[in-house]
Amino acid sequence: MNQTIKDVSVWNLYIRLSHWLMVLLFSGLIITGKAEEDYMQWHFYMGYLLSALLIARVLYGFWGISVAQFKHFIKGPVGLFQYAKQLISGRKPIYLGHNPLGGVMVIVLLILLLAQVMTGLVSSDDVFWFGPLYEWVSDDLQTNMAWWHKLSPDILLGLISCHILAVMVHEFALKERLLKAMVTGKKQSSVGKIEDAYLFKSDSSGSAPKQGVRFLLILSVSFIWLLWLWQLPI
Ligand code: HEM
Repeated sequence: MNQTIKDVSVWNLYIRLSHWLMVLLFSGLIITGKAEEDYMQWHFYMGYLLSALLIARVLYGFWGISVAQFKHFIKGPVGLFQYAKQLISGRKPIYLGHNPLGGVMVIVLLILLLAQVMTGLVSSDDVFWFGPLYEWVSDDLQTNMAWWHKLSPDILLGLISCHILAVMVHEFALKERLLKAMVTGKKQSSVGKIEDAYLFKSDSSGSAPKQGVRFLLILSVSFIWLLWLWQLPI
């Protein structure tokens, strides 16, 4: 059971593209949101794209490949406690997908990013720019959402710094090549040592054609959302 497996496919092209597009769009949104010059139109369109990307990723968390499904990496307090205990005892548990702690960060990032783009849709500078759904909410709700939309980028920047730091700890201290895996999709591992090896023995995400149909449906939902946003007046 302890045979060495080289280059196990973990993250498919969709997950990798989605991750790096998220990085690009988030960076663009921070730059255009904080700049002195008026880049608001770009800010809006990048926000629309990020919202579509996030909607697709959330749906993929329910209907995507096993390793990307929320139920496989949300472990709850008991799983987290066990993971922490293993780390403290120096066992260095290896996961092919997200480890329980990384899973928590993924969920927090997805929720905060979604909140960020959704609050942006109803925010305004009260002078030139009005989010496409600004008129849809009450004044009170608009004020609260605009407040959150201003505050949360700094929280996100802090969390993303922790995310990058955690990846670096895995890279350099634990010698787990997570960054390479998010680029090539592949991890090198030894099956006897993998905590979530069951993922690859019994993939519960359905046959390839079923997965393909689900993926197309997910893409269609996110594309329709994007088209709808794009034609709204701003
Ligand atoms: C705007 C900045 C970023 C955001 C919002 C972000 C968000 C995320 C999310 C949501 C995931 C989960 C992927 C999925 O399951 O779909 C993830 C995973 C990952 N991210 Fe990032 N990320 C950011 C920046 C970075 C950067 C700069 C790096 C490289 C240093 C990085 C490296 C990784 C790696 C290696 C994983 C996989 C971790 C694992 O194997 O468990 N991320 N990130």
